[in-house]
Amino acid sequence: MFLPESGESPLADEKQAAVECIDVRREFQDGSRVIKVLQGTNLTVYRGEFVAIVGASGSGKTTLLNLIGGLDTPTSGTILVDGKNITKLNDDEMSKVRRHNIGVLFQDQHLLPIFTAIENVEVPMLLDDVPAEERRTRAMALLKTVLVDHRADHMPHELSGGMRSRVALARSLANDPAVLLCDEPTGDLDHKTGGEIINLMRNLARNQNRAVIAATHDPETARMADRILLLRDGVLVDEMVGDFFKASKVDVATKKRGTADEETST
Ligand SMILES: Nc1ncnc2c1ncn2[C@@H]1O[C@H](COP(=O)(O)OP(=O)(O)O)[C@@H](O)[C@H]1O
Ligand SMILES: [Mg+2]
Repeated sequence: MFLPESGESPLADEKQAAVECIDVRREFQDGSRVIKVLQGTNLTVYRGEFVAIVGASGSGKTTLLNLIGGLDTPTSGTILVDGKNITKLNDDEMSKVRRHNIGVLFQDQHLLPIFTAIENVEVPMLLDDVPAEERRTRAMALLKTVLVDHRADHMPHELSGGMRSRVALARSLANDPAVLLCDEPTGDLDHKTGGEIINLMRNLARNQNRAVIAATHDPETARMADRILLLRDGVLVDEMVGDFFKASKVDVATKKRGTADEETST
């Protein structure tokens, strides 16, 4: 297979693949023991798609998101983000891709407590020298997208958990990334608030043509996705998802793109 060093992916023309993982392996050395976490994982996610990655705790969901987000390097294999082969980039190039092509919403990512909601959203734009007025306008528009613009001038401690998640979501979109990575996005939230965040993520994929990938062990989150992939034995499989969730007695069907009901809100 032809794999460019960088530039356009061979698949990009057809359906605009935003993320491609090709035979990705990640091993960790633990003393004399080698922990093989990802063992030849393949994944393609297109713009406009919301994909859920499920799997038992320790199956490698976070490891995979870290690799796609450029926070970690695979032991072997190729990862293309927005057409760029990120496994071939130097540190400078990688940090540019992280700033411009990838948004991350990880559970342990906190808002900066000394800044207001809108200032938090502006932070990634500061790094890009976006002029103050444009920064403010863009940040306000993003807060509006996630329905928390009425709290723009509030400090993080004045916001509910759900509102803080919305602000973090707006911040992850600050530089208009093609790919949004979410690790257990509803982990800290109650059922209703979590559902609202997932609904927003789904709309960000559909209405803004982004690729949204969420790692989750929450069946309610997974059932909102266009596709559910199960990470098992170091590879992604799209069968047996039902079996994985049987224990929780939640009926999660594997939805194919285009069959899910369209959302009209937001
Ligand atoms: N930096 C690391 N060093 C050693 N082992 C790691 C490291 N990161 C993850 N692991 C191991 O990889 C496995 C997968 O972890 P993780 O990706 O966090 O799983 P999940 O997110 O699905 O719960 C676990 O066994 C974990 O202990
Ligand atoms: Mg994890």
